[in-house]
Amino acid sequence: MSGPDVAPAPPLTFVIFGATGDLTRRLLIPTMINMTRSGLIGDDFSILGVGIEPGGDEMLLQRLDSFLETLGMEPDRQDAWQRLRKRISYVSGDFTQNGVYDEISSRLAHAPSANAAFYFAVPPQFFGEIAEKLSEHGLTNEAVGAFRRIAIEKPFGHDLASARALNARLLNQANESQIYRIDHFLGKETVQNIMTTRFANMMIEALWNNNYIDHVQITAAELVDVGTRGKFYDATGALRDMVPNHLFQLLAMVAMEPPNSFDAESIRNEKGKLLKALRVYSREDAAKNGVRGAYTAGPLNGNNLPAFTETTDVRPDSNTETFVALKLFVDTWRWAGVPFYLRTGKAMKERDTEVVITFRQVPFAQFPRAASRPPLPPNKLVIQVQPDEGLDMEISIKTPGLVMNTVPISLDFRYADRFDIGKQTGYESLFYELFVGDQTLFQRADGIEAGWAAVQPFLDLWADGGKPDPYAPGSMGPACANELIERDGRVWHRPHEKPDGNKP
Ligand code: BG6
Repeated sequence: MSGPDVAPAPPLTFVIFGATGDLTRRLLIPTMINMTRSGLIGDDFSILGVGIEPGGDEMLLQRLDSFLETLGMEPDRQDAWQRLRKRISYVSGDFTQNGVYDEISSRLAHAPSANAAFYFAVPPQFFGEIAEKLSEHGLTNEAVGAFRRIAIEKPFGHDLASARALNARLLNQANESQIYRIDHFLGKETVQNIMTTRFANMMIEALWNNNYIDHVQITAAELVDVGTRGKFYDATGALRDMVPNHLFQLLAMVAMEPPNSFDAESIRNEKGKLLKALRVYSREDAAKNGVRGAYTAGPLNGNNLPAFTETTDVRPDSNTETFVALKLFVDTWRWAGVPFYLRTGKAMKERDTEVVITFRQVPFAQFPRAASRPPLPPNKLVIQVQPDEGLDMEISIKTPGLVMNTVPISLDFRYADRFDIGKQTGYESLFYELFVGDQTLFQRADGIEAGWAAVQPFLDLWADGGKPDPYAPGSMGPACANELIERDGRVWHRPHEKPDGNKP
């Protein structure tokens, strides 16, 4: 999404709660700069920052200036920043008190347009309260003929009960059509491309079912460790942090039925249906189908990493996992019997987010030498979400020569070879959709709750004790993760591994 073929967003004020925080300067402002540069937002777009820090517009602007200097922006970005900068103002105050909301009302009443999007860059325990205060002050009321939208980042709840409670609280103050629950994975090009890959290609979608697919793997391996996020992470863990949100969004894109149209409701209906079809395990089945790990001390990326339990702000006796692997089922006609293996973790061998579709083996191989060799390798489709965004298709070909021999090769496509995809934050499309009022890339209440319902048995099981299995930093997780898949006669895909025919 960029430039000339897309109309700029309508006039609006983007109200950021938590404007002096890290998220605003690291992510929101660079995104707004990119959007200004590419014309997705124009001169009738303004930002109203809200924060507890005393000061006025200049205080916020100077802070942003000093941060942006450290980024070393190229001239066209600097130029966009200078244009955007003129339309940023600041309200200082405590967002649990009424005064701030009176001030926001008065600013919006004097803005060129009454349209507003409120973004909560604050800890999640304040989400409900801010929404209530906005509503009490009439700020969510769209009767003025303008739109009023609320954008919220994850974590959306801590478990099924808290997610339900938060949804109910928000929906008391605003309609579902006004609430934009952000999952930043949906802003990634390759995640959006999953729909195109499936629904714009007959040869792919025709095979997309349990007759032809053996199993699906979804991996989000991270090289980064918990670092300075000890407090948050110890209370959260890999399962809550990544699975009901990011990994399930990938899963829903991969497994949902074709929507009747590409509008937000049709797509979210299909995703919601799919997530509701995820099997909710009994306690015994959760114990069989989920494993967890925590990294130990060791070398990672040239440094000596302390064990997770020795990380600042992590309890030394913490049971929190930094790695999780699950085997899940989607109970639908299309996917009956097809396991979905999911894994994610910190301090792993490399950064790699991928979806691997492994097709069934051919039923019969008539090649003369096939009988004496191991079975033909199955076809695979590897959707490389990041880094190195692309798509690989693994098929078998004949090796040149007189002997009828086969070798698997990979047909590779890399986005970077063909398109300029650099320098985006990944949030541009999300914010553009927020500003134009398209909810396709945002999560709906039912989808969020269905996701939590599927992970709740694991949360309950692990809350009752036991320790995650250790794994070395720089590995692909604990041994139990391999056992989880190998007992089914399958193996995890090795990131970036190429089939024999592509090896030099
Ligand atoms: C966030 C998690 O939601 O996603 C982080 O809280 C994680 O722990 C991050 O590192 C991963 O996102 P990305 O875009 O870097 O893959």
